[in-house]
Parts: sequence; C-alpha cells; structure tokens
Amino acid sequence: MNILAIESSCDETAAAVMIDDKRLLANVVDSQIVIHRPFGGVVPELASRHHLRNIYPVVTEACRIAKLELGEIDLLAVTKGPGLIGSLLVGLNFIKSLSMVLNVPFVGVDHMAGHLNSPFLSASKPSFPFIALVASGGHSSLFLVRDHDEVRLLGRTRDDAAGEAFDKVAKLLGLPYPGGPEISREAGEGNPEAIPFPRSWLGPDSVDFSFSGLKTAVANHVNKERQQGRRLAIADICASFQAAVVEVLTEKAILAARQQGISNLVLAGGVAANPSLRQQLALRCQAEGMQLHMPELEFCTDNGAMIALAGYHHFLKEGPSPLEMDVYSRSPLLSQAV
Ligand code: KG4
Ligand code: ZN
Repeated sequence: MNILAIESSCDETAAAVMIDDKRLLANVVDSQIVIHRPFGGVVPELASRHHLRNIYPVVTEACRIAKLELGEIDLLAVTKGPGLIGSLLVGLNFIKSLSMVLNVPFVGVDHMAGHLNSPFLSASKPSFPFIALVASGGHSSLFLVRDHDEVRLLGRTRDDAAGEAFDKVAKLLGLPYPGGPEISREAGEGNPEAIPFPRSWLGPDSVDFSFSGLKTAVANHVNKERQQGRRLAIADICASFQAAVVEVLTEKAILAARQQGISNLVLAGGVAANPSLRQQLALRCQAEGMQLHMPELEFCTDNGAMIALAGYHHFLKEGPSPLEMDVYSRSPLLSQAV
C-alpha cells in the first residue's frame, strides 16, 4: 500500500509517503517557527492559516520526492488529535477531500500513537512489550506498550509538559521560541551543577511528572539575580535546569520499567531530540541492562512519517475511519486511569 500521511496538529505542516510499514519515500516538514517566534509561542489562528496555505504545496512536494502521483495512493492517514483544533481541521478536511476525490480510504490517527510509532522508523526496531517515555511540547507521559494498538498509560505530567517547561524557561531568559533547542545549545557551554534546582519526585513510587515547581525555581533565581544587579549566567542556568529535567525524566522511565519488569525502553517526542537526555538515558539503560530505542532526530519532533506508520497499523486492525470523523484536543490515550 502507498500511504500518504499528513500531520498538522501544531506548528509544523508535514506530509510523508510510505510503502506499508517498510519504506519511507518522502518526509517533508514545513516549520512555522519563524512565523510564531516574534510572539514567543504558537499563535493558534496564525498556525491554522499557514497550514491552509502550505498544505497543498507540502503534499505536492512529498509526492514529487516519492515519485508518485496522487492517483497512485492507496491509503490516507491524518492526525485527528490532540492538538490545536483549527490546525487539525485543516489536515483532516484536506484528507477527507482527497479521500472522496481519489476514492481511497483514510484513517484518523492519534498524535501520541504517532510518537509511539516513531522508533519503528529506524533500522533497529524495538520489540514488544516496551516502556515508552513520550516527552513533547504538550505531553510528558510514560506508557506500557504491548502492541501497536495496546497502550496503557502509567504516568503523566500533573502540570507542565517537559517541552513546555523548556519553552517557558527559555522565554524567561529571553531566548527565542522554541526553547528546547536553544536551551540545549546554551547548556552545552554551562555547568549543570552551578545551581541546585529542585527535582520533583512526587513520592518514591510515582511515575507522574511535575515541572511547574522547577520553572518557578528558575524564575525566582532569575529575579533574585536581577534584583542584586548581577548579570545572568545564561549557560549555567540552562545547564542546571536541563540537568534537573533530564534526571527526573530518566529516573522515572527506569523506575516504570523496573515496576513493570520490562527491559525494553523507548524515548520519543520533541524533547527526545535533547542530546543530554539521549545520553543520560542511554547510560542508565546500559547500567540497568535495559535496551533503549530512540528515533533519529528528524522523527523525534512532529513529522508525517510517524503518522503514516501509525495509520498503517490502525488501518490493518480497524479499517477506514468514517467521513464524519471529528478532531479532538485531548487524547483518549491520556485520559486513561493510572
Ligand atoms: O513533539 P513535538 O515536535 O511537538 C509536540 O507534540 O508538542 O515537540 C516540541 C517540543 C517543544 O517544546 C520543543 O522545545 C521541544 O520539543 N524540543 C526540545 C529539543 N528540541 C525540541 N526540548 C529539549 N531539547 C531539544 N533539543
Ligand atoms: Zn508531537
């Protein structure tokens, strides 16, 4: 099956073309970062307008790279949520129209299911069951994954997501949006032990997360330094903040794996692009005798390839989605009781 997939849940207009779950032919991502940067974050209305403008050129480009005509597509996949409603509607309606015009089925895919499928885009694929840490701009969650469609939530953030904490702390320090890549760049020049920012463990057995206390601790530190007329040691603050996030994410992923008696771990989501997190988790897994799978950097942040893959498995199991399908802002995967 030739699959065409679209991802438009936030500020990337992305399209991918894939043959079954085997060969990725094209993966085009059009980022809106420069559009939202002056506002310090994503402006929903601007995002949907830019998706509307870019979706046809991005899909055309993906087909050109894949050397396929739209008429040769057998299955369509699209993110149905969670995300910005206006942005999701652009992708969903585009796919519905294609589905009617081309007379091929489409499937709506959960964005989290997309991230959970992203490590399968690498040559070395994880085997089931595995524990997945998905850390992105909107979510920080731990899942027990028994199969492509058998996913149980183990823990989630009680307030800010990890990526959100990166973005908010970057804003506080006057660094541009999105904050994750900026902070990790600055952190490379700083001392991770310079400032002892708090680690929020929420109890010895908890695999939930909380990052808002850490964000407040950085804000308090910045205010104190400014009040005392000192120049901010940006690199040290970034390195110390990043160390706190990385330690909590890493240790809770290991704890969840131990609690479930599972030795396969997967790291996914935009924050999985963080070099320090990749390195620390790899070291800890090695020490624990656990196998770690991480998607390549281009598949960590939002992309169409992960939606194509999730869509393929969803279609095999459940068949096509109905034409009246709607979008949602909250994932059912994240509404499970833990
Ligand atoms: O998965 P993603 O592309 O979009 C969502 O589903 O939210 O994740 C975007 C998030 C942003 O918060 C961004 O700051 C963060 O991933 N991010 C990073 C890095 N690259 C992107 N966070 C930390 N370090 C990075 N290198
Ligand atoms: Zn995402």
